[in-house]
Amino acid sequence: MKRIHHTHTHTHNKMKETITILLTILLTSIPSCFSSYPFDHRDEPFMFSNAFYETNHLHGHHITRNSHMQNLHGYAPAPSPRARNSHKQNRHGRPPKAFNVNNFGAKANGNDDSGAFMKAWEAACSSTGTVYVVVPKNRAYRLKPVKFSGPCESSLIVFKLYGNIEAWKKSSAYGDRRHWIVFEAVDNLRVEGGGRIDGNGKVWWPKSCKINPQLPCLRAPTAVTFVGCNNLMVSNIRLENAQQMHMTFQDCENVKALHLMVTSPGNSPNTDGLHVTGTRNILIQDSIIRTGDDCISIVSGSENVRATGITCGPGHGISIGSLGEGNSEAYVSNVLVNKATLIGTTNGVRIKTWQGGHGVAKNIIFQDIIMKNVTNPIIINQDYCDRVESCPEQKSAVQVSNVLYKNIQGTSSRPIAVKFECSKSIPCRGISMQNVRLFDQTRQDVSKASCSNVRLDTRGHVSPLCT
Ligand SMILES: *[C@@H]1O[C@H](CO)[C@@H](O)[C@H](O)[C@H]1NC(C)=O
Repeated sequence: MKRIHHTHTHTHNKMKETITILLTILLTSIPSCFSSYPFDHRDEPFMFSNAFYETNHLHGHHITRNSHMQNLHGYAPAPSPRARNSHKQNRHGRPPKAFNVNNFGAKANGNDDSGAFMKAWEAACSSTGTVYVVVPKNRAYRLKPVKFSGPCESSLIVFKLYGNIEAWKKSSAYGDRRHWIVFEAVDNLRVEGGGRIDGNGKVWWPKSCKINPQLPCLRAPTAVTFVGCNNLMVSNIRLENAQQMHMTFQDCENVKALHLMVTSPGNSPNTDGLHVTGTRNILIQDSIIRTGDDCISIVSGSENVRATGITCGPGHGISIGSLGEGNSEAYVSNVLVNKATLIGTTNGVRIKTWQGGHGVAKNIIFQDIIMKNVTNPIIINQDYCDRVESCPEQKSAVQVSNVLYKNIQGTSSRPIAVKFECSKSIPCRGISMQNVRLFDQTRQDVSKASCSNVRLDTRGHVSPLCT
């Protein structure tokens, strides 16, 4: 009796799951959900004038109700990939092909599953059409460093992370200590599914020179890196306790990062949430980021970056830079950060450049932002120095120009809420403030501004003002 009852509940749950998931897939397949995507910037003519996100195939995948749905979620014991793929599936003749890591030997038993993941990836990547790599739910897979490489034969590859991935703890397994999970040169990729990626950073953080200054400053791996991936969508993933940065977009084009949840302790070293480098056309939306370093950092070579609906804190805030380290040349342009809430962060919206650099950070809008007890809500620092020894004074600098701060309000944890520390030789140009109201939380008073080498253009109410 007991056994029958159990089986019944199990089947029932399975059905419920399947129905929920079918509904989800059905809803997200309706192109209109996405085509209304608010990506025309009528207010900001310079933003994103190129045809952004004409990648409808990223969303408009066709899945029909068929036996493969089960494989997608890892319930039914799946036939071998070849047997599966030889099936005639649906009227459209485009069956989704699911490659479940369990069918490639992943065990989720605490041993290394990276070999199985690689095999599942390779099988998916070498298949045509829409393909799925499936990581089943309610399991935790341990991975050593892995690289999922393209280019792939598939027209769309979906990495369905329903379950959890945990990082291998031994640092000796990490080679150059720069990466853990890498997606490289994969076009038309989606990573999604509600699962969690845990970097087990606790084994790395105490070895950081930021935590223990006696130790040499060595890198720790970035948890997830996308490098050279065009038409990428990452959504509904939780990232936790990265060894160092949580997720990096490097040299990618046309990226959406949606509904991400990034969590690490406020005192974890260098654990940037989302890092954007050399990447064009990226939208980061509706994400919650709590870390020990920048929530979002945008560095050289990045262009057309929009972050909206971001909740940040603890952490170091939303940052453009650092730029120009080691006398390097840096270009960042067309950045819009809007609808952000920063809570208890050390910075709110920051632009930071090293002395001695070249290049420009320009056309930047920070708009509709709420600050709660932020140490430096608005800051441009052209004197950035993240070294133990001090940085020598230098003439050249990365030019900061055309920056608008609009509709920014809230509180700072210190009296000085606005800091413009611009370069003497290359002052900040075109800095505007419009409707800014920042209060000093501790003293319950208006805050102050500290400004050098900047000329401000103000509109509407602005406080504090430079004196
Ligand atoms: C504000 O932030 C400071 C540190 O930045 C902290 O010590 C203080 O407790 C915070 N206050 C509130 C009310 O959160």
